[in-house]
Amino acid sequence: MDTQETQTVEEAPAPALPSLSRRSLLGVLGGGAIAAATGLALSPVPADAQAPSDAQAPSDVDIFNFALNLESLETEYYLRGTTGRGMSDADAGRNPGTVNGGHMVPWQNADLRQFMEEVAQNELAHVRYYRRVLGRDAVSRPAIDLAGGFAAAARAAGLGDNFDPFASEMNFFLGGMLMEDVGVTAYKGAAPLIKSKKFLEDAAGILAVEGYHMGMVRSMLFRMGGAKARRAANAISDARDRLDGPEDLDQGIEVNGRANIVPTDADAKAFSRTPQQVLRIVYLTDRSGVSGGGLFPNGMNGNLRTT
Ligand SMILES: [Fe+2]
Ligand SMILES: [Fe+2]
Repeated sequence: MDTQETQTVEEAPAPALPSLSRRSLLGVLGGGAIAAATGLALSPVPADAQAPSDAQAPSDVDIFNFALNLESLETEYYLRGTTGRGMSDADAGRNPGTVNGGHMVPWQNADLRQFMEEVAQNELAHVRYYRRVLGRDAVSRPAIDLAGGFAAAARAAGLGDNFDPFASEMNFFLGGMLMEDVGVTAYKGAAPLIKSKKFLEDAAGILAVEGYHMGMVRSMLFRMGGAKARRAANAISDARDRLDGPEDLDQGIEVNGRANIVPTDADAKAFSRTPQQVLRIVYLTDRSGVSGGGLFPNGMNGNLRTT
């Protein structure tokens, strides 16, 4: 695990408590006191989330900030594709990175559009949840490259050189599929690392929502574009598998000529990815020690940012 404390403190500490590190701030103050000190309405950070961990293990704050980066990516993607605009400044944090690319999808089908409008609102609610519970520990939105990042992902999947995920409904669903499975497997992989039972319950609720998104996107892709969509979706799955290491943690939407809407192991459980495996996919690298690239050109913000 990469837990370099120094890389995470991109935000200024609370003015009233300048000498406290982020983690000691959490240890000393309950969420209510943080709310009083910062003027932010917070849920109290549970006591079990504050338990000291060994130096190698990421804290719950590290894990939730990791998730906040991914949720910010999803929010920018779906909001831009369904409204033409990204998240507001208030949702992006104090020092947000720029977002490159993304535009309104030329919607043809009202049902598909409504599905993705609902997904966009879910992702925005996830961002707001993390900002609420993390308070001043929340990292800002990292720089996100929706244009070059998805084009590079599509190249890696063999889908051609000029893939624009916002150019058509099918492309938009393919881009969504790239992210939703990463979300499902990232939340499952993080579950054993989360110390607070309350945070674990909340993360389970968010994992379920990502699973609904994934199932909807995969089943729509299976129906919408015939062999072309199925081949493209399988190519994205194969690309994820090449990037994330030697284990086979992915499945296409068609296996042996039959629908495969749910990627699972032999027990019908969703797969798990470590934060490093997730980072390889979103940075589009199969190497370790990489701290940016692909969808996050300057890397994610927070402690968990290196493959
Ligand atoms: Fe989400
Ligand atoms: Fe999602």
